[in-house]
Amino acid sequence: MEYNDKVLDHFTHPRNVGEIENADGVGTVGNAKCGDIMKMFLKIEDGVIVDCKFKTFGCGAAIATSSMATEMIKGKSIEDALNLTNKAVVEALEGLPPAKIHCSVLAEEAVKSAIADYYKKNGIEYDHDLLDCSEGACHLHGSNAEE
Ligand code: FES
Repeated sequence: MEYNDKVLDHFTHPRNVGEIENADGVGTVGNAKCGDIMKMFLKIEDGVIVDCKFKTFGCGAAIATSSMATEMIKGKSIEDALNLTNKAVVEALEGLPPAKIHCSVLAEEAVKSAIADYYKKNGIEYDHDLLDCSEGACHLHGSNAEE
């Protein structure tokens, strides 16, 4: 299993690890296949993600992608964060071994799940399709068994 330097850097020095107390949105997602879990905490002000932290109990690729995903959504609007795809995260990491691409889906789902939590907590109506991940084989919906 070959990880590139950028992935190794985010794996060995993950950014934004931890928890946010009184987070505005918290999302927990799991990969049904390997049992790995990712928890994402968001601080949201005026529709902007002003802070985010994550905890991942997972493989190196899951840690690297969550680290990169938090860097990519920090300071962005909720809408921009909802448009974050696992492919964009993998591209920002300059690639993952093919067998580890499914791990990157966790990061996208965790962001979406945390935003959905924010919407729910604030009684904001939202389009549930927002939560559909770009891979179409979403762990949130437990349909990735054949991946
Ligand atoms: Fe479980 Fe990578 S092997 S997320």
